[in-house]
Amino acid sequence: MTKNSVLTFQKKKSEGKKITMLTAYDYTMAKLINDGGVDAILVGDSLGNVILGYEDTISVTMDDMVCHCRAVARAADKAMVVVDMPFMSYQVSVEEALHNASRMMKEGRANAVKLEGGTRVCPQIRALVDAGIPVMAHLGLTPQSINAFGGYRVMGKTQDQASKLLSESFEVQEAGAFSLVLECVPMKLAELISKKLEIPVIGIGCGAGCDGQVLVAQDMLGMTSGFSPKFLKVFAPVGETIKKAVGDYIHEVENGTFPAEEHGFQIGNEVIDSLY
Ligand code: KIV
Repeated sequence: MTKNSVLTFQKKKSEGKKITMLTAYDYTMAKLINDGGVDAILVGDSLGNVILGYEDTISVTMDDMVCHCRAVARAADKAMVVVDMPFMSYQVSVEEALHNASRMMKEGRANAVKLEGGTRVCPQIRALVDAGIPVMAHLGLTPQSINAFGGYRVMGKTQDQASKLLSESFEVQEAGAFSLVLECVPMKLAELISKKLEIPVIGIGCGAGCDGQVLVAQDMLGMTSGFSPKFLKVFAPVGETIKKAVGDYIHEVENGTFPAEEHGFQIGNEVIDSLY
């Protein structure tokens, strides 16, 4: 089986086929998602919210990302594994970006890294690509800058913001990014950027005009209660199914119907008798 790569992304864009990506942070979910057939798995720093219970992604560390990436990589025999560089692991200098991205590749066994930002991170993108590390860029709503934005909101609505977003999209492409994630950008602007760029644009909260889509798996499986942005569709109410299964388990343990005879192991009566 050939593993998906940057070439898969390019080929799909040139053939006008949509690229699919979902997040995963652990082996079990990554295996289900890989076997389900997505093109790429993103080990997003959204693991701060989804797995670690933080209110944002700011506190996520390199060690968190490497550990989860390694688990996902073990499961992904087909899907390309893209891992987020966490907050302040690449912004300080090109050297730190190189050092930390090399950990993602060597220890995390990622196939590519993703980092947030435009003009200011282009030197980092260039250096990583030069070193043989594919980079996915991320523009629009970039959650690591949440404190600078003052909240989660749609980006690029004004003339100035829209033209900055377009020019930064070209800059990250020029710097060598193989793909660009756009988050929470108005549909017409995201579609225009997707059409103008040669590299594939993967949207989240950007409408159907992008070259592909990404969602957080736990969100599209209805497992993250209290999080229901406009762009989200719950494809299966797995959260409800889990809660019901937990309730059934408690009920059966309490009333003695679980475990049943077939769930136990047998032993010869003579062994038991000898112990009395
Ligand atoms: O961390 C993440 O899951 C992401 C996606 C929402 C694009 O960056």
